[in-house]
Amino acid sequence: MKKSIVSLAMLATIAVLISCNKNKSDSAANANVSVTPVLPDATAEYFSDNGNVGGEVDILNKKATLGRVLFYDNHLSLNNATACASCHHQALAFSDNAAFSRGFENKQTARNTPPIQNLLGTSLKLFTVNGKLAGASSLFWDGRENNLQDLIMRPVSNHVEMGMEQLADLPAKLAELPYYNKLFKDAYGSESVTLDRISESIGLFIGSIKSQGSRFDQFMAGKTQLTALENYGFTLFNTKYPCGNCHHVSMPGGYGGMGSGSEFMDIGLDIVSADKGRAAITGNAADNGRFKIPNLHNIALTAPYMHDGRFNTLGEVIDHYSAGIQNTANLNDELKDVNGKAMRMNISTEEKAALIAFLQTMTDNDMITDPKFSDPFKTN
Ligand code: HEC
Ligand code: HEC
Repeated sequence: MKKSIVSLAMLATIAVLISCNKNKSDSAANANVSVTPVLPDATAEYFSDNGNVGGEVDILNKKATLGRVLFYDNHLSLNNATACASCHHQALAFSDNAAFSRGFENKQTARNTPPIQNLLGTSLKLFTVNGKLAGASSLFWDGRENNLQDLIMRPVSNHVEMGMEQLADLPAKLAELPYYNKLFKDAYGSESVTLDRISESIGLFIGSIKSQGSRFDQFMAGKTQLTALENYGFTLFNTKYPCGNCHHVSMPGGYGGMGSGSEFMDIGLDIVSADKGRAAITGNAADNGRFKIPNLHNIALTAPYMHDGRFNTLGEVIDHYSAGIQNTANLNDELKDVNGKAMRMNISTEEKAALIAFLQTMTDNDMITDPKFSDPFKTN
């Protein structure tokens, strides 16, 4: 039951990867056929041996190096025109700046592309389940996947739904690209390309993407001060207003609700939610309109906001919390007043500026400029 919902839901996300490709010109389709990725001489340090990763750091780093190339490689799509990175842009914390990402022929994803960051914890062992990479928390806006490696298999297995031949062809197709021989051999000891190797290495690459270098992170580590305005915003976020009760910003790993036991909330966006959110997975009406509490790291980079990208700016988000919350059926108690009605926070102009200044401290410039996360196919 769950399986079929999962694969159907994934279709919406990834179908664009492989469908509707007929109008793409062949030159675009073959865009990087002859381009060889440029990799550093020494293996980049994706994981460091802090005693948690079990002494295989060198191999993990080589697998992540392979994963980086796969993540940016258009050959993962049927018409060689779309890579993971087509929707997940490093400069935007691996999110997209469109409400719905565009695939082929202007086809749109059903939801806003979230950032990719802090998906694995520091201890890899903790996040491996039955030999596969799991996640630090539920994945996707509705939490329908919690195994990172399986998630990556969805776009691949979607090739099955689009044509069995293509799935069978993918490893062979990649093996024909000369640059993969060495990458697979270094990472796995042989040149053989398999779907498990593809998903594990991409999983390690994206799992290594950590946002922990922002001024906010440094502040939490006692290494820097926030300005008075930022500090005021931080205080408002955690005391006067209930933001911090859902968005646990001080937890760098995973989503806001991690550890709270309940990650999916209705924040009063629509009386009738066009997207059922969590209910699409559970079939439970009490989950209508509930979406995963987003991680606010790099929030200034990931506009537009919400599962459907309805708000273009942080100001619009604050305006929603200030005066726009609706009396939805599943509205979370944190956002109700004493009479059980949608709360009116009436956030003042000064407070709004302070909240935004605080949110902007979570931008991690290291992560978005780190060469080891960048496009290896880019030559200039
Ligand atoms: C056409 C745009 C597009 C492409 C291509 C794409 N994604 Fe995504 N990705 C999305 C959207 C949209 C979502 C959110 C889907 C949802 O929640 O229903 C998403 C969600 C994710 C998530 C979940 C993040 C979280 O915190 O929940 C991960 C991880 C991810 N994608 C990785 C990948 C990888 C790896 C690839 C390549 C194999 C890829 N994506 C290709 C648009 C895309
Ligand atoms: C009841 C829990 C809850 C409270 C309280 C709450 N939020 Fe949220 N927040 C969420 C959820 C859930 C979403 C995603 C909703 C969606 O997309 O449908 C969200 C979305 C956001 C986003 C957009 C994130 C993105 O990636 O698109 C921002 C910014 C944000 N909240 C800031 C705040 C601020 C500031 C406050 C306090 C004024 C606050 N939140 C209070 C649960 C909460």
